[in-house]
Amino acid sequence: MPDFRDSLVAEFEKIFRKRPDHVFFSPGRVNLIGEHIDYNGGKVMPCAISLGTYLAVSKNTEKMFRFHCLNFPETAGLHLQNSYSKSGKAWFNYPLGIINHFLKQGYPISGLDLLFYGDLPIGAGLSSSASIEVLTAFALNELFQLNVPRIEIAVLSKKVENEFIGVNCGIMDQFAVTFGQRDKAILLNCDSLQYELLPFATGDYVLAIINTNKARTLADSKYNERFAECGAALKALKKELAANNLCDIDLETFQSARHLIKDEVLEKRALHVISENSRVHEAAQALTQSQLTKFGQLMHDSHQSLKDLYEVSGIELDTIVEFCKDYEYCIGARMTGAGFGGCAIALIKNDKVDDFINQVTVYYGRKIGYAPSVFVSNIGDGVKEVQL
Ligand code: GLA
Repeated sequence: MPDFRDSLVAEFEKIFRKRPDHVFFSPGRVNLIGEHIDYNGGKVMPCAISLGTYLAVSKNTEKMFRFHCLNFPETAGLHLQNSYSKSGKAWFNYPLGIINHFLKQGYPISGLDLLFYGDLPIGAGLSSSASIEVLTAFALNELFQLNVPRIEIAVLSKKVENEFIGVNCGIMDQFAVTFGQRDKAILLNCDSLQYELLPFATGDYVLAIINTNKARTLADSKYNERFAECGAALKALKKELAANNLCDIDLETFQSARHLIKDEVLEKRALHVISENSRVHEAAQALTQSQLTKFGQLMHDSHQSLKDLYEVSGIELDTIVEFCKDYEYCIGARMTGAGFGGCAIALIKNDKVDDFINQVTVYYGRKIGYAPSVFVSNIGDGVKEVQL
């Protein structure tokens, strides 16, 4: 997108009175299937999307980190220190957490002028946070020639989200935005970090993203609650089963051991995780064999389980999926990401997209009282440098 790049560079010149040395891009992601699985050591199937976050950046000699973002009014100018701590809820905590990590690891980094811009809806469950974390880590690696391997960029970005930001997320988002490839779904084993790229061949169908536009205010605390519940369920099962993660247990074994979990809620959480993990295996097979109807059915089943067993959906996401199930030209739909608002995804017949957008907007608006945002997404590349 040359026009946009030009205006990012022009803004950078206005703010910092020089040209940026580099522009980098990092995508957002959707997860096709395998939800709330990554922190339970199973398989997930995300892909990078074409929307994401851009960074125009230059080194400075004043040993300052100067943060600007076209999406937010807050700015910051911090002198180089040995470490930093989180500053309230400001957006620049994400790049600051990454810088803090590099400094604490002893990497020789120094002052930078940074201008960010994102075209991802922020906080909508499309991994705007992983996108900016990975983007910053990738940029530091390139600018200071640190030779940090790609896998380490994903892993350290997750660590920053866990320890600096305070969300116990798994590795899926940071991995997807680091390793995404155009038109490919990533089948990732979140325990071993081994992955395969599967062609995202959906024939006459395109991937629509439907943003509920619901503010995800409680998302982080609810997410951490689910994380803790899975830990408690695993602890109960470990009394008789040898497992490091819930996803080490197959459905059959779980059925014969579920009595070990005395709490009904924890039992439901574990059942979601273990059945969802098995759906990912089926979905990978269906996608590879071009069985799109089967793939779509698995998406629906996944949503149902997230709604009833894991309880991370909500009226907004359910309304969208309910519409999609009845819509003749949709073969599968589900919430994507952590839930509690955010986005749903749907596979829609390519010549019916406009009709779908009109109809789902009316249906959702009538029930929820405001409009969703709907767009068709391409599956894009992971983090990269953009030529100036
Ligand atoms: C968020 C987290 C991921 C993953 C999903 C749910 O996006 O950041 O690590 O757990 O929720 O699948």
